[in-house]
Amino acid sequence: MRGANNDSQRYWNEVAGAGWARQAEVVDRLFADPTQRALDTIDWSQVRSVVDLACGCGGLALAAAQRTSSPIWGMDFSEPMLECARQRARAAGLKQLEFRVAELQTAGFDHESDLVLSRFGLSFFEDPPLAFRNLGTALRRGGVLAFLTWTPVEENPLFSLFAQVMDRYMDKPPQLGSGPGPFGLADLEQTRALLEGAGFDTPEVERYAFDLIYPSPAVAWSTQSDLSGRLGAFVAAQSPEIRGEITQIVKTALNPYADASGQVAIPAATWWIKAQRS
Ligand SMILES: C[S@@+](CC[C@H](N)C(=O)[O-])C[C@H]1O[C@@H](n2cnc3c(N)ncnc32)[C@H](O)[C@@H]1O
Repeated sequence: MRGANNDSQRYWNEVAGAGWARQAEVVDRLFADPTQRALDTIDWSQVRSVVDLACGCGGLALAAAQRTSSPIWGMDFSEPMLECARQRARAAGLKQLEFRVAELQTAGFDHESDLVLSRFGLSFFEDPPLAFRNLGTALRRGGVLAFLTWTPVEENPLFSLFAQVMDRYMDKPPQLGSGPGPFGLADLEQTRALLEGAGFDTPEVERYAFDLIYPSPAVAWSTQSDLSGRLGAFVAAQSPEIRGEITQIVKTALNPYADASGQVAIPAATWWIKAQRS
């Protein structure tokens, strides 16, 4: 069915969701710098209700709950990630958070919020114009949609580094670049046009450069292959020889980013895009 994002839904439920749930705390540490910078730009005194779209394990919703006591709804279509988000909110004693399952390209929203946020969650839609028109209905007029989304792949070497492994060993490696995926909104001109076409004012855009920091090359590799789901399962299914070869390729690629203690810092960049609903 068009508009249902069925493959993506399967991927985030059955392939990647468990890894994201296992790595939820690690992911929040990796993304802490742009998350806090982004949340610093919001005037929280005006915010009465918040939605975290494609919230996954709820890291952004949990961070927003440090800024406001207003209700925050997290929405996503990955059950394992939502369950992780619920557990984390319970563990933190945060009753203002509620997590709901929804396919966001077509979901209806119960009410119109002041602020709709997302962290790396809005670039996966099959039909972005349909999705962004729909997301606008989660906001009151004058409300703000604000989201972090990766800048082009050339500025985010982590992704190309792991793509090298996939290209070399997998029959059908996932493609980076344009289209649904992490870089689906990287082209600013297209994203501006998308927002304006969906009923938003001209967006404000900031670019945040930061480092993705891992304690060692081995942890960088294990974290990222767990998050990628497909890559993790693929590597686990290989012979010890191929696994050894892959580990060596990854180590060589990560070495330039490691310091004397072995800590790895990979440069990354994200857009922080804020658009008011017209
Ligand atoms: C890269 S993860 C980011 C998760 C979370 N926002 C974070 O920062 O940790 C992308 C998320 O988008 C969700 N997602 C992608 N397409 C979606 C859709 N059409 N409807 C609902 N959720 C979607 C996935 O399930 C996943 O949780």
